[in-house]
Amino acid sequence: MSFSVVILAAGQGKRMKSDLPKVLQPLAGRPLLQHVIGTARSLGPAAIHVVYGHGGELVRERLKDAPVSWVLQAEQLGTGHAMMQAMPHVPDEHRVLVLYGDVPLIRQSTLEKLLQAAGSSDISLLTVMLDDPTGYGRIVRDERGDVREIVEHKDASPEQLAIRECNTGVMVVPAALLRRWLGLLRNDNAQREYYLTDVIGMAAREGVRVVPFVAPEPSEVLGVNDKVQLAEVESEYRRRVARELMLAGVTLADPARIDVRGTVTHGRDVFIDVNVIFEGEVRLGDRVRIGPNCVIRDTTIGDDTEVFANCVIDRAIIGHQCHIGPFARFRPSSTLERGVHIGNFVEVKNSYIGEGTKSNHLTYLGDSIIGKGVNVGAGTVTCNYDGANKWQTHIGDGAFIGSGSMLVAPVRIGAGATIGAGSTITRDAPEGQLTLERSKQITVEGWQRPVKKK
Ligand code: UD1
Ligand code: CA
Repeated sequence: MSFSVVILAAGQGKRMKSDLPKVLQPLAGRPLLQHVIGTARSLGPAAIHVVYGHGGELVRERLKDAPVSWVLQAEQLGTGHAMMQAMPHVPDEHRVLVLYGDVPLIRQSTLEKLLQAAGSSDISLLTVMLDDPTGYGRIVRDERGDVREIVEHKDASPEQLAIRECNTGVMVVPAALLRRWLGLLRNDNAQREYYLTDVIGMAAREGVRVVPFVAPEPSEVLGVNDKVQLAEVESEYRRRVARELMLAGVTLADPARIDVRGTVTHGRDVFIDVNVIFEGEVRLGDRVRIGPNCVIRDTTIGDDTEVFANCVIDRAIIGHQCHIGPFARFRPSSTLERGVHIGNFVEVKNSYIGEGTKSNHLTYLGDSIIGKGVNVGAGTVTCNYDGANKWQTHIGDGAFIGSGSMLVAPVRIGAGATIGAGSTITRDAPEGQLTLERSKQITVEGWQRPVKKK
């Protein structure tokens, strides 16, 4: 039976004390709401409706590519009122799965079980056992264990406050029934709000079955209201991803010190040292080793390559058996073939580097095409920018670039050419020959160092 998802995301999030709307606060580099939309999508619903709040234009703008329909709730009059805004877009024969923009860790598998827990004319309700249920709606059951109603914390009696089973807010309800019950909601409660939770009591009174399903892990239903909870959710997410990586065979020096803000795919026997941040889509081959304190974004790294400490790598394709760093920086769009060495304080941008080429120290390689087996000496700079335009440097196979060379682009260094140290090369250097540009060394006879005046 088809179902629609409604994600409630209109809350203001005052406790965030931030100009950024709550559901746009980042978890692992992506807005909270985007995580929820992603999980909702994985379930294959007929539609996803997001209820957003007044002033939430920024939310729509930031998530404009998300495959959802947006429903405005101009005034926040409660979760039941928020649902009423979405219902005109949901057909009677659907079931409705209710999710929350600020509950980002809910798992696909849990929601699948919830959808299966009840028949098409029943309700299923995700509950959670909490040691400290303060603030949550309590699940009130009768002697037979059947759910009778949900009582909000602020409306609960002392006996009800002792109940540890709480409402997560996540539920699946047949649309036609939900529409009718929402129409009957009243706001004569402690918060003067239209509570979605009141439909549970209405269902029970009409004899509609409410099937409770206790969340397997309470961490899945953690809500985010302030920066403390945001950090808790982040560390829970980190724990999850680290665990998945380890179970898939990756060795982590410390699972509490890795951040994956995107996806990492990997081969066998990968080792990742502490404080590594992965962003976007990163692929690591077999036996790749990543040293401490690296930031690696949208990059592919080949088998047996080692990235030493403190490298920043953005949008590179790095071949097998390369040595990178320590302290190497890749700005976007570079490709390295097998066995390339890029050493300390070397910056590479938009370059192609052929097999076995080495650039081990203090160098800038930008907009360059470099052949195989080239040796680039310390302190070499491809001067790619003339103040207005960027130009290319070509270096042929087997060339040797002496230390401290300025290669002023556009320029070509022929295969097997040797450039003398300290040269500023402004014209093409022929292959196989020594080219240098250097003023003659002189020694000034009888020169004396100045002495300090008394
Ligand atoms: C709600 C539940 C409570 C449950 C708790 C779990 C109700 C009445 N209570 O309480 O039983 O234990 O969640 O966290 O549903 N929202 C809107 N529009 C509104 C009001 C809220 O979109 O007018 C959204 C908020 O953005 C938020 C969610 O609904 O994502 C929950 O709202 P919130 O005010 O936090 O409800 P609670 O009081 O926490
Ligand atoms: Ca809440």
